[in-house]
Amino acid sequence: MDRERTIRERLSLKNPVCFSLDLPDQDKGLALLEEIGPLVGMVKAGPVPFLSYGTPFIKTAERLGIPIFLDLKWHDIPNTVHDTIRHLPSSAIRMITIHALGGPSMIGAAKKACEELGDSRPVLVAVTALTHLTAEELLLIGLPPREVAVRRLGAMALESGADGLVMSPKELPLARSLWGKTPYLVTPGIRPKELSVANDDQSNAASPGDAFGMGADLLVVGRPILRAKDPARALGEILRELQG
Ligand code: C5P
Repeated sequence: MDRERTIRERLSLKNPVCFSLDLPDQDKGLALLEEIGPLVGMVKAGPVPFLSYGTPFIKTAERLGIPIFLDLKWHDIPNTVHDTIRHLPSSAIRMITIHALGGPSMIGAAKKACEELGDSRPVLVAVTALTHLTAEELLLIGLPPREVAVRRLGAMALESGADGLVMSPKELPLARSLWGKTPYLVTPGIRPKELSVANDDQSNAASPGDAFGMGADLLVVGRPILRAKDPARALGEILRELQG
């Protein structure tokens, strides 16, 4: 209960929307960071913007007081993961991702590094089985069927020190039934009912209201905002749906 409160209180986000700024172009990316960043709970930087313009991204977010979700999904030896987290380039980075497949020692090292950061400790969330993996691919890499893999990797990650997990909306009810309210659950694959996205690759998508209702703490939204004619308006519709 205390841990549950601490994670959410520590973050104290203005709303549960995390804008995924997946743009390679620095000018467009920073313009959207300025426009949309102050309106959302968090902004997510994955490898595409971070490797292209990571420093200006961080400086802009720091200036505007926008919490950053640094989504680089680390999966390496424990020492490297520890030192990477221990030397994060900014205290504006409030959430980070690792792969549960790195195992208990890597997750433990990540947790230790987070603790060593003290007050600026980021929330540590683990990816279980990437959603693009088919049953055949899971078998090829030695993993059981998806539901078993998510249960097993999720339990191991939480026992090893992760604060939460990343998962598709479809997996949220199972996660809440298995692990209760404590884990911080982050979900991509958000598709507002009235906003369609061309060439969509999110097969297990849910609307913002449905994902929130199924127990998500943070909704990661990229293309429904990025591809909208009016991104601020698209975000406004998502926030209205959540309020409803
Ligand atoms: O554009 P869209 O709303 O689908 O963006 C979703 C974001 O979440 C992207 O940054 C994508 O890399 C990330 N993601 C995902 N599916 C996962 C894990 C992360 O779409 N299983």
